[in-house]
Amino acid sequence: MRIGIFGTGVVGHALGTGFISRGHDVMMGGRDSANAKAKEWAVRSGGRARTGTFADAAAFGEAVALATLWEGTQHALTLAGADALAGKLVMDATNPLVFTTGAPPALALGHTDSGGEQVQRWLPKSRVVKVFNIVGHTEMIDPSFEHGPPDMFYCGNDAAAKVQVAEFLEAFGWPSAIDIGGIEGARLLEPMCILWVVYGFKTNGWHHAFKMLRK
Ligand SMILES: NC(=O)c1ccc[n+]([C@@H]2O[C@H](COP(=O)([O-])OP(=O)(O)OC[C@H]3O[C@@H](n4cnc5c(N)ncnc54)[C@H](OP(=O)(O)O)[C@@H]3O)[C@@H](O)[C@H]2O)c1
Repeated sequence: MRIGIFGTGVVGHALGTGFISRGHDVMMGGRDSANAKAKEWAVRSGGRARTGTFADAAAFGEAVALATLWEGTQHALTLAGADALAGKLVMDATNPLVFTTGAPPALALGHTDSGGEQVQRWLPKSRVVKVFNIVGHTEMIDPSFEHGPPDMFYCGNDAAAKVQVAEFLEAFGWPSAIDIGGIEGARLLEPMCILWVVYGFKTNGWHHAFKMLRK
């Protein structure tokens, strides 16, 4: 499948490399098609990797992953054009963080709204699934923990889009991913990022993930 990645940072690199490792073709998009971080990633990643602008990545991708800084996400989507993403699966890995309060960051919106819902409003014709936002970039692909694989929680309004995401997750080493419902579930998943970050600061460690236990 052809995957567009929005974002040239660590999350864009992790997801881009992950999709390529599973046989997909990836275009990493940024504001500038000559972005040095994207170019360096593409050289490292071989023939399935390409770089371009956000608009190039949107046009290229049959599905797209959003890995932009929250404050740049609307701008990135505007540069791409919502119509270029119409009908497509958009995997939203962003967290709507604000850093004005110092560390840990706070959420720009919550309780009655979420970044995931905002992305769906910006892209009304796209099939947005919130996913990947509750874990650090180093564990997004092939998470490896002593007590077995962690759980990825995801949500979105389109059932077929979520089936596709579950298939990607299984291929990426998340065999027990949990669908928590419609995109409003992002109101729960985005605070989980803050919990993940707070625990990281407290323990000075960044390799942890969530697991749902049952009996
Ligand atoms: N880091 C993690 O482990 C982690 C884990 C889960 C979720 N997340 C979330 O994933 C997203 C990406 O994280 P990251 O650490 O990879 O991010 P990052 O390196 O800080 O930024 C990623 C991208 O944001 C774009 N960007 C920044 N300002 C912009 C603007 N004004 N207009 C358009 N684009 C703009 C940049 O575009 P250019 O390429 O053009 O500069 C860059 O490619 C964030 O929302 C983060 O909260 C991060």
